[in-house]
Amino acid sequence: MHFFAKSLVPLVLLTIVLGEEIYENSTNICERCKCLRGRQFVLDCSDSGIHNTIAEWPEHDTSLVATFSNNNIGNLEVLPHSDKVTDLIFSHCNIKSLDNGVFKAVRNIQLIDLSYNDLVTEGISPEKFKGPYNNTVYEPLGLTQLNLAYNRIHSLPHKIFEHLADLRQLNLEGNQFKVLDPPTQMALSTLSNLETLNLASNQLTELVGDAVKSLRNLKELNLSYNNLDAVPETLSYLGETLEYLYLDHNPIFEMSDESFLGVKSVIELSLTNLPRLTYVNVNTFSPIKNLKVLFLHTNKNLFDINSQAFGENQTLEELYVQDNALNDLNYNLTKWSNLKLVNMSGNDFFCGCNMYNIAKDLKEDVKRDKDGPVCVNLVSGQSMMIYELTEEACEYQTTGPSPPYHLIIHHYRILRIFTVLVAVALIVCLLLTITILLLRYRKYRMNRSYPFATQIWYNPITNTVT
Ligand SMILES: *[C@@H]1O[C@H](CO)[C@@H](O)[C@H](O)[C@H]1NC(C)=O
Ligand SMILES: *[C@@H]1O[C@H](CO)[C@@H](O)[C@H](O)[C@H]1NC(C)=O
Ligand SMILES: *[C@@H]1O[C@H](CO)[C@@H](O)[C@H](O)[C@H]1NC(C)=O
Ligand SMILES: *[C@@H]1O[C@H](CO)[C@@H](O)[C@H](O)[C@H]1NC(C)=O
Ligand SMILES: *[C@@H]1O[C@H](CO)[C@@H](O)[C@H](O)[C@H]1NC(C)=O
Ligand SMILES: *[C@@H]1O[C@H](CO)[C@@H](O)[C@H](O)[C@H]1NC(C)=O
Repeated sequence: MHFFAKSLVPLVLLTIVLGEEIYENSTNICERCKCLRGRQFVLDCSDSGIHNTIAEWPEHDTSLVATFSNNNIGNLEVLPHSDKVTDLIFSHCNIKSLDNGVFKAVRNIQLIDLSYNDLVTEGISPEKFKGPYNNTVYEPLGLTQLNLAYNRIHSLPHKIFEHLADLRQLNLEGNQFKVLDPPTQMALSTLSNLETLNLASNQLTELVGDAVKSLRNLKELNLSYNNLDAVPETLSYLGETLEYLYLDHNPIFEMSDESFLGVKSVIELSLTNLPRLTYVNVNTFSPIKNLKVLFLHTNKNLFDINSQAFGENQTLEELYVQDNALNDLNYNLTKWSNLKLVNMSGNDFFCGCNMYNIAKDLKEDVKRDKDGPVCVNLVSGQSMMIYELTEEACEYQTTGPSPPYHLIIHHYRILRIFTVLVAVALIVCLLLTITILLLRYRKYRMNRSYPFATQIWYNPITNTVT
């Protein structure tokens, strides 16, 4: 008996090795990792030198949260069985591949975090995410959150989500999407329950309509850190549901009354760090009927916001316009007394009637910031606290020796355009003159050398004739 048992152990080990399924011994896993029993069972194996999937989960009667961050795993093998709701974190694990059906034994899985790994498009085929097999079909996984951020994915296999019908949150941030190609469009079009989509930090130049038009429940979209040079028109497909929209750090250079056409339900909009944006046109935000929070800050070249950028019946509550290049803000821009939070620091405001009236209307609560925003008195050249301006400010502007700042800037812009035009015209004239002169010179030379040419040309003929 003993002999038998002894020889069986290596045998079992051998078959495990041959089957290429090597598991971490999980007998005393709570000594190697941290185990925390509470409302949830938390198994924290981060940074524990783990290379393979563990053989068994420790006993647990509650939901399970298992963290394996910062291990060198490479290939993720099929996970051990659990009926409980599970959250699994495998970020920073150098994962290059997944076993087919890697999550099939944890079918009530809720969240998978595979961020910061080495997955490429070929490594995330639909078979990887299939659930347990039952009577000719694969049961779906219960997964609601999938994080594939910071891998090397440039396209999604078109059926990748076929076993993930319940997906609510998808994070594809920091991958290599340049375009959302047809397979990716097909994949996304199956996610009718999706609520949050993060496509930030890719290299997208546009948002293809077919990729988003089936996302009937999308509430939050992050498109920050891409190469968009305009607000994508296709956002109107999401108009009925989208509430949070982030477009920061893009080369967007213009915004007009068409930019957000159809984007009706957005509540919070973020447009920061847009270095090419210089002005915001009339009615840009008018289509966004429920806009409450606008982040329009740190746009280094934004010098003007049209006084009617928001249109009628606005619902704005928070306005962040700090660190732009604004010289003025029109008093009619919004109903300042409705705002609950405002930041206007770090601009090039000149003190005037607008600043005085805005400061007068703002709630005391909003103005609590003791290092509040400043403006420059164009008469004296002094810097003044906007929240402490008096009615006198209305005179700085009209009696000032120079016209207001923004007019000067407009003036210089026009002057610059004019100079460029004149320069171009001069160059064209010069080129034309040179061409004409050259042509004339050639004609003159040809005329002069004509007799020679005739001599050379005619000599042989005369020779043959003679
Ligand atoms: C796992 O480790 C325990 C001791 O920690 C040992 O008794 C047991 O035999 C090991 N199991 C396997 C399958 O290696
Ligand atoms: C397997 O499928 C049948 C119907 O096809 C279903 O009634 C049953 O609950 C399934 N079993 C499991 C474990 O999901
Ligand atoms: C959007 O993505 C950017 C880039 O990764 C990130 O910094 C930002 O926090 C995200 N915004 C939200 C609201 O998730
Ligand atoms: C604004 O509200 C008023 C009164 O409720 C309404 O008559 C008007 O049509 C609204 N304007 C817009 C552009 O919705
Ligand atoms: C604001 O609007 C009112 C009414 O339309 C107008 O009389 C006033 O001049 C405007 N103020 C500014 C600063 O443009
Ligand atoms: C306004 O923004 C500036 C610059 O980003 C920041 O330093 C300051 O704390 C903000 N003020 C308030 C009241 O939030």
